[in-house]
This record gives sequence, structure tokens and C-alpha cells, in this order.
Amino acid sequence: MSVPRPAAVIVLAAGEGTRMKSQTPKVLHELCGRALVDHMLAAARDLDPERLIVVIGHARERVGEHLAQTSPDARAVVQREQRGTGHAVRTVLEEVGTIAGTVLVTYGDVPLLRTETLTDLLVRHAADGNAVTVLTAEVPDPTGYGRIIRDGNQAVLEIVEEKDATPEQRAIREMNSGIYAFDGLLLADAVKRVSTDNAQGEEYLTDVLSILREDGHRVGAHVAADYVEVEGVNDRVQLAFSRQVLNRRLLERHMRNGVTIIDPSSTWIDVDVEISADVVIHPATQLHGSTTIAAEAEVGPGCTLTDTVVGVGAVIRNAVCDGAVVGDGANVGPYAYLRPGAVLKTKAKAGTFVEVKNSTIGERAKVPHLTYAGDATIGADANIGASTVFVNYDGVNKHHTTVGEAAFVGCDTMLVAPVTIGDGAYTAAGSVIDGEVPPGAIGVARARQRNIEKWVLRRRAGTKSAAAAERALEREKTE
Ligand code: UD1
Ligand code: CA
Repeated sequence: MSVPRPAAVIVLAAGEGTRMKSQTPKVLHELCGRALVDHMLAAARDLDPERLIVVIGHARERVGEHLAQTSPDARAVVQREQRGTGHAVRTVLEEVGTIAGTVLVTYGDVPLLRTETLTDLLVRHAADGNAVTVLTAEVPDPTGYGRIIRDGNQAVLEIVEEKDATPEQRAIREMNSGIYAFDGLLLADAVKRVSTDNAQGEEYLTDVLSILREDGHRVGAHVAADYVEVEGVNDRVQLAFSRQVLNRRLLERHMRNGVTIIDPSSTWIDVDVEISADVVIHPATQLHGSTTIAAEAEVGPGCTLTDTVVGVGAVIRNAVCDGAVVGDGANVGPYAYLRPGAVLKTKAKAGTFVEVKNSTIGERAKVPHLTYAGDATIGADANIGASTVFVNYDGVNKHHTTVGEAAFVGCDTMLVAPVTIGDGAYTAAGSVIDGEVPPGAIGVARARQRNIEKWVLRRRAGTKSAAAAERALEREKTE
């Protein structure tokens, strides 16, 4: 059966989430590169609903601003006071009007809920011709949840909240996920008739089920195959657990697509990361944001890549890369830091203890050890000696350095920007270069060496050094 397209998905996200104990609104807490609410919206979007509605209340400015940025297709409806889940839905319908067709109601704090499960719910709802179908699950510990009350024929009678439940009802392990498919017209009528006559004095959306049943409509349930999917995030313990489950799902998807992940338990990958087949991810690696990794690249151990593009066959070890582009066959680390605007062309190298910012390293060019390259353009086949510093900052402004093709910058050169090293030019080791070096020239900018004979014997008499020197000089005499 084809999946019926919902007329609307309403995501309830007005609650405070006190158990997070956070300045950040609960639904904005991050999980695998996305806010909690954005996970729900992504799953909802896959159902292709005619409308996407989010109920906001607590911290509504921050949440509203976030949604405007990340989900311009969603309409935010403000629920000024959180007077219950029924009140939240009533507020929506009063603002946008009655919605004909299937209305799916869900929460902003269930990031593990898969589109497939929502699809199953919609299919069941349509197939059974229900007025409402609730998504339920059998859980090991139902404490805190509403319980599903069924009659002797297993037909759903009502949902009873924990606080209103009898001891017998509390023993029921089938819980209400709080996610439902409704007939929109029947919902609009029933939600107006929900009372606040309960232990919490709230308008319970759950009461809509018994109202519809008493009106003679069909009320059904769909039991989720995996209860873990419908358990929401209420505190940081559940946040960590959800992150682990979601991460594992993402890793398995990548592995099935041909990515080798050596140690899934220490590998963390955000939802939007793209990895090609035959990539190898070594332990203790985190891939964040919009990072993409092309075929046959090797990343890790110990890498954190954010919004970074990695080319075919590139190798990155023990590195932090942030907004960088690592070309095909390029080599990074161990112990490198690539900052925004770092671009390594094909087969370029940024080696050990190398930091690169806003700089392009040309094809096959090498920056192998102990270097800071900031605001630079380094030509193809250039070699930057150990301990070179691109002195880009004068305390007020940043300046650019250009190193030409196949140039050879000697070890411990200070390139005081703005400065240009010509194609094929050299600099002498230890030079402080603050003027142009023309193509093919060597720039030498250092004091000439002079030796003060026997200085140690006079000024450091009695030391091990002086003794060693005396012995050496003695040997020289006898030779
Ligand atoms: C609700 C259900 C319960 C179910 C549980 C599943 C009711 C009466 N109870 O209980 O049967 O087992 O969810 O998690 O519906 N919200 C609003 N506005 C409000 C109140 C809540 O937007 O006025 C939002 C919250 O942000 C949250 C969701 O609705 O995302 C659930 O609210 P919460 O207070 O956690 O409901 P529970 O008491 O857990
Ligand atoms: Ca809850």
C-alpha cells in the first residue's frame, strides 16, 4: 500500500525540559551534528507532509530563531503557557485553522524515531480506517509514561497517565509514545472537549482517544518494533544514550556502503557526513558537519574533521581539520592543525607539528615539519624547511606571503609578510626574510658566524664543558 501523505506534522516542543538542567533549551541540544528538534523535523520531512508545524513556548525566541535558520519550511506556533499536550494541539488548530486529512502529532525530543516507523504508523492508520492511531511500545520500565489500556479483545480503550493510574494500570508495560496519527477533522472537534480534570490539571492530548472512542470512532494502536526509538530525551544520560544509538546506526550505514571503520566504539560521525567506499577510518576519529571523504582515503587515528573535504587516497593522521580542503593523495600529520581556508592541492603535504590557516599549498609542495603557514600561497613542488614561520601578523593587520613554484625555503626561515619568494628561489636557513627574493636567487638574511676562541675555558672554567674542551684541545696538540 502506498504511504498516505500527511496533511500536517505537528511537532510539540514547547516544554522546558527541566531535567536537562541547562541554559540551552532541550530541543536545541546537539546530537550527531543536529539539534534534537532538527532530527524530528528531518524524519517528518521525509513523509512529505503538506505542512510542518512546530509548537514552541519555553525559550521561544531562541528556538524560533533556530527554526527560522534551519527549517524555513516549518511554521512555528507559539504556545504561551504550557497547559498540556492537548492545549498545545488546540493552540495550533486555533491559529492555523482546522486541518483536513491526516495529522501526525509528535515531539521535538525523540531523535531516534525513524521515518520507517512513522510510515508504518500512517499505513496502519489508513488501512484500519482509524480516527486515531497511537504509536506504542512495550518497555522494560514504563515509569513516567502514559499506559495503554486495552479491553479483553485487545482493543484500545484509553490512555491513562502515570499520575492518574491505579496500581494495576501502572503494571502495564505498553506505553504511550505520545506520537499519533489523527483524522484532522475529528481531532479539531475532540481537542476542544478535553478537560483539565486530572492529577496535573492539564489538557491531555491522550484524552482525545477516549473522546473519539466514546463518539463511536475507530481507535487503534501500532506497536513500535523497537521501543528504544520512541523513548525521548529528558536528561543528559538519555542524551548520551541516544547519541550512541544514533551514531551506531550511522556507522553501520557507512560500513554497509563499503567504509572500513576499525573501531566503531571510538568513531563518531555526524548525520550529514559523506564517505565514499573503500575509505578507512582509524580509531578515535570524529567527523563533523559537512565533511566529505573521497574513495580510498585514510583518516585517523585520532582525527577530528569538521566541514572538511578530503580527496581520493589522501592520508590524515592525528590531525584537527576545520574547514580545510585536503586534495587527492595529500598527506596530513601526524599532529597537524588545518584551520579554515587551508587548501592542500594534489599530493601536497602538511606534516608533523604544522599549522596551516587560510593558505594554499600547491601540488606536491611539502611543509613537512614544525611550521606555521598563515595567509600564504605556496607554489607547486615548493619545499618549506622545518621551523619556518609565515610571519603574517604585524599586531594590527594580517599580510600575505607568496612562495613560488619549486622554491626552497631553508629551515628556520621567518617570512615576514607581505613578502614574495620567486619561482625556484631559495632562502638560507635561519634567515629573517622581509624583502622579495627574485626567481632563482637565494635570500640570505642572517649574521655571519664568528668564533671567540677559548671563551668557554675562560668564562666557564671548572665546568664539564670546559674540561671536555681542554681534553679535545690537548688531543689536537698531540696529533
Ligand atoms: C506525554 C503523554 C504520555 C506519554 C509521554 C511520552 C500526555 C498527557 N501524556 O507525557 O502519555 O507517555 O508524553 O513521552 O500527553 N509539550 C508542549 N506543550 C505543553 C506540554 C508539553 O509542547 O503544554 C511538549 C513537550 O515539549 C514535550 C511533549 O510535549 O516534547 C511531551 O510533554 P511532556 O510534558 O514531557 O509529557 P509527558 O508528561 O512526558
Ligand atoms: Ca516527556
